[in-house]
Amino acid sequence: MDESQDNPRLSTDISGFQGDGIDMTQVEILPGGDGISVEMQGRRLRFHAIWLRDNAPDEATRNPGNGQRLITLSDIPADTRISGATVNGGVLHLTFAPEGKSVGYDLEWLLSHAYDREQNRMPGWLAPHVETWHAALQPAIPVGDFAAVSKHGSALRTWLSVLARYGFAKLENGPVEEGALFKVVDLFGYVRETNYGRHFEVRTEVNPTNLAYTGLGLQAHTDNPYRDPVPTVQVLYCLESSAAGGENMVVDGFAAALRLKDENPEGFDCLSRHCARFEYAGSKGVALRARRPMIELAPDGELVAMRFNNRSAAALTDIPYDEMALYYDAYRRLGEIIDDPAMEVTFRLEPGECFVVDNTRVLHARKAYSGTGTRWLQGCYADKDGLYSTLAALEAEMQEAAE
Ligand code: FE2
Repeated sequence: MDESQDNPRLSTDISGFQGDGIDMTQVEILPGGDGISVEMQGRRLRFHAIWLRDNAPDEATRNPGNGQRLITLSDIPADTRISGATVNGGVLHLTFAPEGKSVGYDLEWLLSHAYDREQNRMPGWLAPHVETWHAALQPAIPVGDFAAVSKHGSALRTWLSVLARYGFAKLENGPVEEGALFKVVDLFGYVRETNYGRHFEVRTEVNPTNLAYTGLGLQAHTDNPYRDPVPTVQVLYCLESSAAGGENMVVDGFAAALRLKDENPEGFDCLSRHCARFEYAGSKGVALRARRPMIELAPDGELVAMRFNNRSAAALTDIPYDEMALYYDAYRRLGEIIDDPAMEVTFRLEPGECFVVDNTRVLHARKAYSGTGTRWLQGCYADKDGLYSTLAALEAEMQEAAE
């Protein structure tokens, strides 16, 4: 047993210690052994004993092969405390009472997982990888080359990272063949099959007699907000495009929500605090319904999702009477912002080209046609967990190769 277990106030000073590039000058056991306080890279960071024990990297706590935790919280004594702390060769060795267990922590890992920092953020904050945009992005639409991203991990990583940053990206020079969209999904994930099938056809014949009916533009929207969970990625792949017009248009829903917040914080708050309702029952045997906010925030205020689709909006019944007028004002203004040309980026899809969109963030639409001809696209859904997983795995591979 470590002799310091009986004296949890013991402090261990390590003056001027340098381990593996981490400058660590001092480690101190907090009163009662409740945690430690360390100075690393000029920052004073505290860690709780229970957090450290729960995140112990030893083989009895985590499987060294797959990294999965082998114990539950109930396997850790509720009165866990730190009884000893030493540093050796870039590793912080801690001893836990009452288990008498000693565990080593990599200092870089501790620094990168520190939580003793300012965490009070304003509602609507964005994940660090997200960059909002508006019409000024037009000359620099994110785009990848099908052959390059199919063959080279570095090209795929670059394309997926811009897709994650902007919420959409084009892919060019792909095959002009039915089902080619599945080859795009195979690059990063898996198709989400729905009641519309594994994929859906978007065929438009434009001629003077039906122009008014099939060539109309559509307001920018997110797809299928009546599903819960909603499909988080959509792929639209062009196979024929001889009609003039019909350009695709995208709007950054996060940029639109934050513009609403700037103009009308109360309206932003109202749309994020109350659930809208969405439904689709357009075919036999289908009655899809979801109750979710148009602007979705995580409990700590992070802006995580947008749902906006006038065609599938159902009657709003979850907004208090006293707030309904404010809700409608905010909903109207959000729609005006989304329709503002200053927010949109447009592009034309030629055969063999597609675009992939984060359906929880970026709204898409089709401009009206102005001539005659045909347009044929195939669409399908996928999910962004696979996309982010592929991106993170590629980034880890590249980092390993660089080390
Ligand atoms: Fe759509």
